[in-house]
Amino acid sequence: MYVQNAKSSERKPVTVPGLHAMKAQGQRIVVLTAYDTSFAMQLESAGVDVALVGDSLGMVVQGHRSTLSVTLEHMVYHTGMVARGLSSTLLIADLPFMADRDVPHVLEAGARLVGEAGAAMVKIEGAAPHVLDGIAALVARAIPVCAHVGLTPQSVHKFGGFRIQGREQAAADRVLDEALAVQSAGADLLVLEGVPRALGERVTQALKIPVIGIGAGPQCDGQVLVLHDMLGITPGKRPKFSKDFLAGRDSIAAAIRAYADDVRSGAFPAPEHCFD
Ligand code: KIV
Repeated sequence: MYVQNAKSSERKPVTVPGLHAMKAQGQRIVVLTAYDTSFAMQLESAGVDVALVGDSLGMVVQGHRSTLSVTLEHMVYHTGMVARGLSSTLLIADLPFMADRDVPHVLEAGARLVGEAGAAMVKIEGAAPHVLDGIAALVARAIPVCAHVGLTPQSVHKFGGFRIQGREQAAADRVLDEALAVQSAGADLLVLEGVPRALGERVTQALKIPVIGIGAGPQCDGQVLVLHDMLGITPGKRPKFSKDFLAGRDSIAAAIRAYADDVRSGAFPAPEHCFD
């Protein structure tokens, strides 16, 4: 089969300043993961705003139990494939485990994911001092950064599993402090994962930059899901915060369009997808 680059979209390209404008105008931002060209083209034609090449590929594509075995080579390979399927959708690529270990490694990863593979932005987990240095170093080289706090999957062993974060008052305050710290370091976007919905609302109101929730309640500025979760094809149990949008629909395109519509209308996430 011959796959053509997606060049035909009539939509204006989604940009980083455009995402800030969407927050200011109260327009919800639709984000979905993708790992290859064919699915990237589906996201593009469904009008998804942002495609994320997440290191979740380690779990849903490679079959591992965590994201920790994903390498920079894997991320560059999959990001390149997704880039070739997009034209107007903004592309974010994850920094894999330990690519944030110091500023030179962060810059090398940023250069490869943006310069070689075609991402417009890179995502980095956590808010430890070395991560804040990494964010500042990328931003100084004009590489926009999406930060990620709350349930950060690369910390799975520290958390003792994929556990909801910020349930106690002190822990919630810590998540908010981390969100403010990554914003001060220069991040342009934040993924907030696996926190009670009240904390999702609190962080979203406190930050100037858009907050994209996953298991963080309906008040975030946008939502992200893992593609395989929202198509109901993730091996094992579907996470509580996700929804099978393919159920009752006859195509992947219709499922992705329904997800985008429900995020924009606020119908997703519903109370049963949230943590209290
Ligand atoms: O790796 C990933 O897909 C992610 C999303 C779950 C936000 O980080």
